[in-house]
Amino acid sequence: MTAQSRPDETIKPLLRALHGRAQAVPPVWLMRQAGRYLPEYRQVRAQARSFLDLCFSPDLAVEVTLQPIRRYGFDAAILFSDILVVAHALGQRVWFVEGEGPKLEPMRGPESVARLDPTSVLPRLEPVFETVRRLTRALPRETTLIGFAGAPWTVATYMVEGGGGHDFAAVKRFAYADPDGFGRLIDILVEATTRYLGAQIAAGAEVVQLFDSWAGVLPEAAFRRWVIDPTRAIVERVKRRYPGVPVIGFPRGAGMLYADYVRETSVDAVSLDTTVPMSLAGALQQRVAVQGNLDPQLVVVGGDAMRRGIATIADALRDGPFVFNLGHGIVPETPPEHVHELLRVLRGR
Ligand code: CP3
Repeated sequence: MTAQSRPDETIKPLLRALHGRAQAVPPVWLMRQAGRYLPEYRQVRAQARSFLDLCFSPDLAVEVTLQPIRRYGFDAAILFSDILVVAHALGQRVWFVEGEGPKLEPMRGPESVARLDPTSVLPRLEPVFETVRRLTRALPRETTLIGFAGAPWTVATYMVEGGGGHDFAAVKRFAYADPDGFGRLIDILVEATTRYLGAQIAAGAEVVQLFDSWAGVLPEAAFRRWVIDPTRAIVERVKRRYPGVPVIGFPRGAGMLYADYVRETSVDAVSLDTTVPMSLAGALQQRVAVQGNLDPQLVVVGGDAMRRGIATIADALRDGPFVFNLGHGIVPETPPEHVHELLRVLRGR
């Protein structure tokens, strides 16, 4: 398809970048741009009984998705949901404890994998697709709608550890001691994630991002098996059904393995964590669009430190396809005014 035959590309800067174009002013959005650093988010959050209720109430989820768009005019809106809704939809108990993060009834071994029910995933996630449909009507025409899911390895870490782990002992022992049994869990997640992303695209998501937040804790062979292979399977299957929809991969902490991840998964763009040097970012940009990678703590600090961080990244990556973002999610302590300043600096260059 030529650029001319994609009318959305002429008005949507994010789609232009993801289809390989360099732009004088890069498109920008921030991971976790809807969230607790915004007073208007905290107000809506207080109206929901629980965090999952917020994710499954289209009225509220649409509202919090739109809040950062209204306030800042980002180039993309990311659907408000969570990566752990897939574990919930497979039948695992998931809940969120204020100040502690997600908790899940931990899965250990093949019996708990056998209890998961992949057929329940799409019906249980119907409210999320309704949120996507409403967002397609509510967003400004130049704003791109991003859908997302957790990648299988990262979702499996939460499912096996029962929450955010510290050393990943339980999930690693499962994967190393019983690779076939653990592989069945990964296969279920590949299937569920493929269907989930497909349904988001059918509802109106124009781009999808796969968050592999814990990709960086694995040795090389395990990284290939549990990060690259499942991601490639999902990308292949999504692209077979929706060849024009860009997929962004975020294998956080992949270090030296970013290049293999890009080459072997066929993602259209790669989101870089804060530790990735501009030399590697520039090399990756020869193959795909790159997204990133300002340290979220620089947006807490603001001022000259933040301005220098923005300039370093934007100067290094301006001549290729590039999406400005953070290297990980924005943190709750971020002063909302510093995000305004980030946009003024980036767009005023
Ligand atoms: O604005 C957006 O980016 C869209 C919504 C979004 C959320 N979570 C909302 C959320 C997205 C894209 C995510 C992804 C997510 N969720 C990831 C991958 C990215 C990353 O940060 O590594 C992971 C690992 C999760 C799992 C998760 N959800 C954790 C570890 C936590 C607790 C930490 C925290 O920030 O509280 C959550 C809860 C969560 N997800 C909140 C939000 C706004 C805060 C909950 C609240 O408001 O009480």
